[in-house]
Amino acid sequence: MSETFYITTSIYYSNNYLHIGNAYEAVIADAVARYKRLRGYDVRFMTGMDEHGQKIEQSATNLERTPQEHVDYIAEWTKGVMRNLNIDYDVFFRTTSDAHHAAVKKIFNRLYEIGDIYKDAYEGLYCTPCETFYTPPQIKDGACPVCEKQVQNISEEAYFFKLSKYQDALIAHIENNPEFITPAWRANEMLNSFLRPGLEDLCVSRTSFKWGIPVEFDPNHVVYVWVDALSNYITALGYESDNKDLYKKYWPADVHIVGKDIMRFHTIIWPAILMALGEPLPKQVYGHGWLNFDGKKIGKSLGNSIDPNELVEAYGTDAIRYYLLREMPFGQDGNYTTENLIARINADLANDIGNLLSRTVGMIDKYFGGKLPTEQSQTDAGIEFGVLATTSVKIAESHFDKMEFDQGLAEIWRIIDRANKYIDHMEPWKLAKEEDKQSILAGCLYILTESLRIIAILIEPSMPSVPSKIFSQLNLDNSEHKTWDAANQFGLSPKEITITKGEVIFPRIDVKK
Ligand code: ME8
Repeated sequence: MSETFYITTSIYYSNNYLHIGNAYEAVIADAVARYKRLRGYDVRFMTGMDEHGQKIEQSATNLERTPQEHVDYIAEWTKGVMRNLNIDYDVFFRTTSDAHHAAVKKIFNRLYEIGDIYKDAYEGLYCTPCETFYTPPQIKDGACPVCEKQVQNISEEAYFFKLSKYQDALIAHIENNPEFITPAWRANEMLNSFLRPGLEDLCVSRTSFKWGIPVEFDPNHVVYVWVDALSNYITALGYESDNKDLYKKYWPADVHIVGKDIMRFHTIIWPAILMALGEPLPKQVYGHGWLNFDGKKIGKSLGNSIDPNELVEAYGTDAIRYYLLREMPFGQDGNYTTENLIARINADLANDIGNLLSRTVGMIDKYFGGKLPTEQSQTDAGIEFGVLATTSVKIAESHFDKMEFDQGLAEIWRIIDRANKYIDHMEPWKLAKEEDKQSILAGCLYILTESLRIIAILIEPSMPSVPSKIFSQLNLDNSEHKTWDAANQFGLSPKEITITKGEVIFPRIDVKK
C-alpha cells in the first residue's frame, strides 16, 4: 500500500472573489500534490471555502442576497477559477455543509465538557474584515495591522478557550519538531512574538450576529469563525461523523499550506485545539509569503486585486502557474508586475523551452525527413550533457521535496539552457552538410529529444498540460518512459524517434499589443 499524503490549502473567505494572491497558494499546493502523486503517494488534496462570519453576513445584506445564496455563488465562482488554473483537488470542502456543522458542534461540546471552554465576558478590539481579535499594542491609529481597516471596540458575553493552558506544550512541540513550521525562520516569529510573551485565552463565540454555527447548548452564541474554519481540516475527513475511515487514513495532515498572515492561527490556535481534543498535530505548516503589487499585499480589502481569470485568459494557465511558482521565492514575498510576467513568458517559455522543442523537431524534420536514423554516435559533449542532466534531475527533485518550486524550476531551466548551448556548440547545420557526420548529427538530435523528455516529466507538477504537447511532437507513447523515475534515466527512449510537427507551445507576447 502506498504512503499517504494529506495536503491542504487554507480555506478561502467567501466574502471575496479569489484573487491572484490566494491563487498562488492554490497553485503551490496543487504543484506539491501533483509532484507527490508522481512520486507514488496516495494523495488527498483538500481546498475549499470558509463561509461564516459577520463580514459575509454584511456583504450578503449589501448585495440583497441571503448569506447562503452569497456563499453558494462565491463557491461556484471559486471553483471556476480553480478549473481555469488547473487545480486538481480531491475535495472542495465548504464550512456551510451539514457534515461540517454537525462535527463542529460536537467538537465545541467536547471542549466545553472537558473544561477547556468556559463562559465569561469579552471586551476588546475586533477587526471584522479579518475576523480577528487584537490587543491594544497591536493596533496603530485604531487600524488593523493586517488590512488597515478600523477595528471596533466590542463588549459581549462569550465563551473562551483555554489557550494559555497549552503555551508550554506548544513551545516544546515547536522546539522539538523543527519541521513543524516551514520555513524554519517563521518558527522564531511565532515563538518570540506570541508564545514566549504569553498566550491569553481565546474568545471562541459571538452573539452579535447569526451567520455561523450555533453553540448547541447555548444557541444565542455562534462558534468563532476561526474555530469553525480550522476544524475543517478534520471534519472534511469525517471526524466526529459515523464514518471515520478517511480520518484514520489521512490524519495527521502532512502539510497545511497557508499564508504568513495566518500562521499564528495554524501553529498556535489549531494545534492547541487538537491537543485539547487529544488528536495528533499536523506534521507541517508551510507559511508562504505574499504576492505583492507595488509593495502592498494583493487582496480585495486593499482594492488592488488582480483577477486570475483575466490573467489566464490573456496569458494561458500554464504560463501563469509557471510565473507564480518561479517568481515567488520560497516562503518569502514576491512582487507581481505585468512586465515581469511578460518577460518570463517571452524569455523562459517562448524562447528557452519553446525554441528548444521547435528547433529539435524542426531539425529532425529537415535533416532526416522526420525520422531519426538508429545509427547514432556520441561525442564527449553529448555524454557530458547526459551526466549533467541527471545531476540536475536529482537537484530539482531535492528542491521539490522541500516545496522549493522556484529553485526546482531554476534547476530545470539549467538543463534547458545547457541544451540550447549544446546545439550552438554542436552546430548541427554544419554537420548536416557532411556525409560522414550523419551519425554524430543523429546522436546530437537524440540527446535533444531525451532532454525534452526529461524536462517534460519534471515540469508536469508546475505546468500540467505542457508535457503531453512535448511528448506528442516526439511521439513518445510508452508511459513507462514518462514516469518520474524515468527522468533519472537519460537515454531510456528508443533511438528511432519520429516527430510530428505541432503548434508553438508558448507563443511570444507582443509587448506593444
Ligand atoms: O485567511 N499573496 O482566507 P483568505 C499570497 N479564511 N497569499 C495570499 C495573499 C497574497 N497577496 N492574500 C491572501 C483566510 N493570501 C481564512 C483562512 S483557514 C482555516 C481559514 C492567502 O481568503 C492568505 O494568506 O483571506 C491565506 O492563506 C489564503 O490566501 C486565504 O486567504
